[in-house]
Amino acid sequence: MKKVLSFLILSFFFFYAVSNAVFAGTVEEEFKIEGLISPASPKALKSALEKKLEVKVIDLNLKSTKTGWPVLRVQFDSMVVSKENIEKVIGEIEDPAGHKFKVHHGPLLANAPILDEEQKAIAILGDTAEVFPNMKNPITDKVASVSRGEKLFVDNCAKCHGLSGNGYGTVAHGFTTWPRQLWAWNNTGPETDGYLFWFITNGRSDMPPWGLILSEYNRWDLINYIKTIKNPGE
Ligand code: HEC
Repeated sequence: MKKVLSFLILSFFFFYAVSNAVFAGTVEEEFKIEGLISPASPKALKSALEKKLEVKVIDLNLKSTKTGWPVLRVQFDSMVVSKENIEKVIGEIEDPAGHKFKVHHGPLLANAPILDEEQKAIAILGDTAEVFPNMKNPITDKVASVSRGEKLFVDNCAKCHGLSGNGYGTVAHGFTTWPRQLWAWNNTGPETDGYLFWFITNGRSDMPPWGLILSEYNRWDLINYIKTIKNPGE
């Protein structure tokens, strides 16, 4: 009887020591993720990561993160896996649509000023009324237009431009030119209408040409909304 008891006590301590050693290196780490481009992306990223490495995905926060970037939170044993390891594997995982994921390191740009060339473009494009016949903002019900524009923005634009307009939406990934913080246009007058309408209609680099997708009326609603976007830090 005594023998059994001491065996039990000993094995208890043994397991206690072993489990402590196993969990001693358990850490949690956060990664900002680029390349979540389809509704299937988050699931694909999580399961591929857990399959390839001994890590536990705790959370993939797509919406309410501080910077606008999706944040992946993982738990792992630092004696078995390293942070660099995890980052490397994330870079090797392929989204179901064939795109690669990437850990984002860039700083969040805030308050990018309007460039000289854009200042000039605004001036020039303001005069191109023949090319775009209805360049004068035709909308008269401004308040209703702004709320229609907000809905259009959330549905079509926020995935790249971010809900706040900061340029860091969930799918913003590998752009040649990163979009400006849209609050650069806050409260600007009719002189910027030509430029904004032209940009939204035609797109540029990674900015889709919405002239093909949204009606002219929708695009003006969007312009009216964009002009109400404020720098959230102010
Ligand atoms: C697929 C990603 C993507 C989507 C979706 C998108 N944009 Fe863009 N947008 C961009 C990128 C990238 C740029 C910067 C392009 C450049 O400067 O060459 C940009 C630039 C802009 C600019 C010019 C900003 C400036 O200050 O010069 C405006 C205005 C704009 N987008 C409005 C919209 C609106 C409105 C929508 C929704 C209808 C939208 N965008 C949807 C990626 C996107």
